Amino acid sequence: MHSNVPDAPDVPKVPKDLDPSIKILQIEITTNCNFRCLYCSHALDPQVFPESNNECNGLADGISNGLAEELDENYMSVKTFGNLARTSFGELDRLILYGVGEPLTHPHFIPMLDIARKYLPDHAQIEFTTNCSLLAPALLDQILPYRIHRIIVSMDTPFIVKNQEFRPGFTASIQDNLIYLGEQQRAGKIDIVAIESVISKVNLHDLPYLVDFCHEIGISTLYFSHLLPFSQDMLDQLLFVPVSKAAFDIMVNIVENGWEIINQLILTPSYIKIIEADKHPRIQHIFTRMDEARKNKIDVDLHKLTIMFQKVPQIQETYRVFEQVKNRAQQWGITVEIPPLFVDPERRECPFGARDALFITVDGNIVPCYNLARPHTLFINEHERVEHPYILGNILTMPDSITKLLATPEYIALAERLKNLPNAVPWCGDCIYSTQNCFYVKDNSGDCYGNQLGCNECLYSSGFVRCLFD
Ligand SMILES: C[S@@+](CC[C@H](N)C(=O)[O-])C[C@H]1O[C@@H](n2cnc3c(N)ncnc32)[C@H](O)[C@@H]1O
Ligand code: SF4
Ligand code: SF4
Ligand code: SF4
Repeated sequence: MHSNVPDAPDVPKVPKDLDPSIKILQIEITTNCNFRCLYCSHALDPQVFPESNNECNGLADGISNGLAEELDENYMSVKTFGNLARTSFGELDRLILYGVGEPLTHPHFIPMLDIARKYLPDHAQIEFTTNCSLLAPALLDQILPYRIHRIIVSMDTPFIVKNQEFRPGFTASIQDNLIYLGEQQRAGKIDIVAIESVISKVNLHDLPYLVDFCHEIGISTLYFSHLLPFSQDMLDQLLFVPVSKAAFDIMVNIVENGWEIINQLILTPSYIKIIEADKHPRIQHIFTRMDEARKNKIDVDLHKLTIMFQKVPQIQETYRVFEQVKNRAQQWGITVEIPPLFVDPERRECPFGARDALFITVDGNIVPCYNLARPHTLFINEHERVEHPYILGNILTMPDSITKLLATPEYIALAERLKNLPNAVPWCGDCIYSTQNCFYVKDNSGDCYGNQLGCNECLYSSGFVRCLFD
């Protein structure tokens, strides 16, 4: 561990009792998909997510009632879903059908809704996120009697051709399906119909038009999420910076006040001599700003100076477009949720931990969140990071409820930590070691506080990337 690492706070490690409470289950009923969106694991990892042998549009053609029909490993079986429902749905507030796949390609989607309603408490909400390609009016009419609280439709721009470019598989009929969805909401048959849009450089300037589009077709809610960067190319598309606004402002101010001097300092092997000998007021300015930052307990990673400075025009433009989006949304009475441009390390929140939510993968693994479902690579803080799965158990071998399975000191301690993220988990974005090969940023096996699961660079907890909406 580095000698200068941020102080690990004194967080209680021993759980007080063994009574985990699970209020939300997010279940991946299939990893199959009829789209290949450019930024999704489906397009980026075709070996992990091959085209399924099963018929994709079984649902669209009419609901399959042959529940015994053989499904491949890309689908959760009705039996498994049923066992889970029987043992673990009884105390839920919310069931979310969401994963790396299109839920409506599951041929037994409706029987699963039937089971869910049978075992969920009456007040519990059901929702799902869909690419909407299969959600024609006839299917929606069969789904809505199951009292669906919310349907979220993914769409990145109002322009059909552009959607087809980012989201191969996209068809013009999605717009008709959306119009019908909006009508059903106005008729009181569903609480919320929303569009979810992934923001990156390629669609930034379409966002205000997306608000207009929502108004025109009668959709009242719009959620935005930044892009989760699985590759270097995607990193270049991002419209946020994983540092605090205070650190960003200091870095920009330093660069504006003496870029050439800084360059010399960074590039000259004997830079210490320059620092010691030089009385240049601009160097003094840098020291003054750094002193102020230290006094105000703001960590500034000077290795990021160039990168942050290059980001300034983009961040300013994104801010301008976000303001435009907010104004239009207010004008049309549309609810919008916009992610931040900077991180506030003190306000990080694990979306799953904070809501007593868990994620279940298609193969039955119980994991703390969507991010920890399967291995993938993330690009952040100028380095590559491997996110390993973190499996708490499996529903296929679980005779009892999830709550009982998780009644272990290890899980309770993890749940407690995830509820107390700002104090219990460091944030690497502003730390000087994040760009300097810190041992704890190569993967998510741990962090410099000694935690054995590393949530120290989680883009969900910082609010940049969303997969669970309130
Ligand atoms: C994985 S999809 C699954 C549900 C359904 N197939 C759909 O597209 O709505 C869920 C959401 O994740 C978003 N998504 C996919 N890849 C992403 C990435 N790299 N970063 C941020 N969001 C992403 C999609 O746009 C979609 O809104
Ligand atoms: S429709 Fe959803 S699951 Fe399918 S490729 Fe696109 S984002 Fe991924
Ligand atoms: S990786 Fe992020 S979302 Fe997952 S458990 Fe950790 S903080 Fe929560
Ligand atoms: S980069 Fe992150 S894990 Fe490494 S010392 Fe800094 S805060 Fe800790």
